[in-house]
Amino acid sequence: MDTINVDYSTQIPNNVGLAGDRTVLRALEGWHKNYLNWWREMGPEGFQDALVYLRTAVSVDPQGWAKFGYVKMPDYRWGILLAPQEEGRKVNFGQHLGEPAWQEVPGEYRAMLRRLIVIQGDTEPASVEQQRHLGVTAPSLYDLRNLFQVNVEEGRHLWAMVYLLHKYFGRDGREEADELLRRRSGHAETPRMLGAFNEATPDWLSFFMFTFFTDRDGKMQLESLAQSGFDPLSRSCRFMLTEEAHHMFVGESGVARTIQRTCEAMKAAGIEDPNDIARVRALGVIDLPLIQKKLNMHYPLTLDLFGAEISTNSANYYNAGLKGRFQEIKIDDDHKLTNATYPVLKLVDGKIVEQAVPALTALNMRLRDDYTDDCTRGIERWNKVIDKIGVKFRLELPHVAFNRQIGEFRDINATPKGVMISDAEWARAREQYLPSRDDLAFLTSLMVKVHEPGKFAGWIAPPKIGIDNKSGDFEYVQIAA
Ligand SMILES: [Fe+2]
Ligand SMILES: [Fe+2]
Repeated sequence: MDTINVDYSTQIPNNVGLAGDRTVLRALEGWHKNYLNWWREMGPEGFQDALVYLRTAVSVDPQGWAKFGYVKMPDYRWGILLAPQEEGRKVNFGQHLGEPAWQEVPGEYRAMLRRLIVIQGDTEPASVEQQRHLGVTAPSLYDLRNLFQVNVEEGRHLWAMVYLLHKYFGRDGREEADELLRRRSGHAETPRMLGAFNEATPDWLSFFMFTFFTDRDGKMQLESLAQSGFDPLSRSCRFMLTEEAHHMFVGESGVARTIQRTCEAMKAAGIEDPNDIARVRALGVIDLPLIQKKLNMHYPLTLDLFGAEISTNSANYYNAGLKGRFQEIKIDDDHKLTNATYPVLKLVDGKIVEQAVPALTALNMRLRDDYTDDCTRGIERWNKVIDKIGVKFRLELPHVAFNRQIGEFRDINATPKGVMISDAEWARAREQYLPSRDDLAFLTSLMVKVHEPGKFAGWIAPPKIGIDNKSGDFEYVQIAA
């Protein structure tokens, strides 16, 4: 079996030898029909017949795993790709430390493992659903193409999890796979499993923030599942991470280009004060304070995705060897966390204080801290864009107690600086911190489609380089194909 190059002889491209695994192949072919129905119903609205310049994974060789070409999205070859098996790979943490990695599901962990896979799987189609209306207001064909690239790859990530369910979990796996196509983002009765995946993504700044923050949460989850002792899950996630990098690039560069355009327009108009919002908005660009408010909105939603600070579930996943820490094998400790502690911010007697708790129960917190570090570095890169153009403004992450729905701080009000305030103060100050109705109306007013090759909406700068090194006027999407 060739585990580097992808086999295209079956309806479902794969490097897992599906051609010789008729039962799973047939089950997946059945699911494929339902998937396409879901894609037509819930995928990008209005562009199903457009030719999109997309990359498709054709190999899991890090040097050249993708090929680019025009494709109609429903014809995209969603495949099942696992990173190559590592000879002699071991369970690298928890109570099975040092045992050979599992190639089959350990019976005692079946339910836990299935749950981890279903939770990860559920986020993938959710984001496609959240982003389905954005095509009609794309600021350029370049951005439109990037949106669709992210969408088809989230679809492939769903395939990756569905393969594991079909292959390793029998009938209940198949039922879970069907459920993944039944839930709907934001639906009152059958919502997606996690909060941030039920929020609307109404405009392109939201999309860029989403791909910066929420896809980065995805990266952290995939990184910790890539450590799994269940080898097929580890291999799936390792390959998904290859694609995930582009999603975060779309978010980070999208916000950076927005910032750049704003700062350049301010300079050209001789506006020194970033808080002179009326004048900045009159230029048709997004004021920096509104970008900060959007960031204030998205970051806490993604912190909530990490779950409660103290969690016995995450301790159980770790002990079992199913879900590790970020870069587990690079950490220099016992990989069992028997006596280790970890500092956690808690609410004690109405104050936010740091406490050392058993590290095993604080694994969500630790992963969240690693995530925050990663976010901070990205935000510093945005600040460099502002600095370089010579505008005096700094973007920053709000305090972890700000605007939370899950965990220690869910029942309090805190400012972005982490100062606790009363309900009345919160009600008065809320619109200084988070986008107001007027802010959102302004943003919406800027969201007009630009579908001419090489042209960009006035609120966003063009990218420095094209996708696949294409020139500036390249037609990334042929809409009337
Ligand atoms: Fe994904
Ligand atoms: Fe993603």
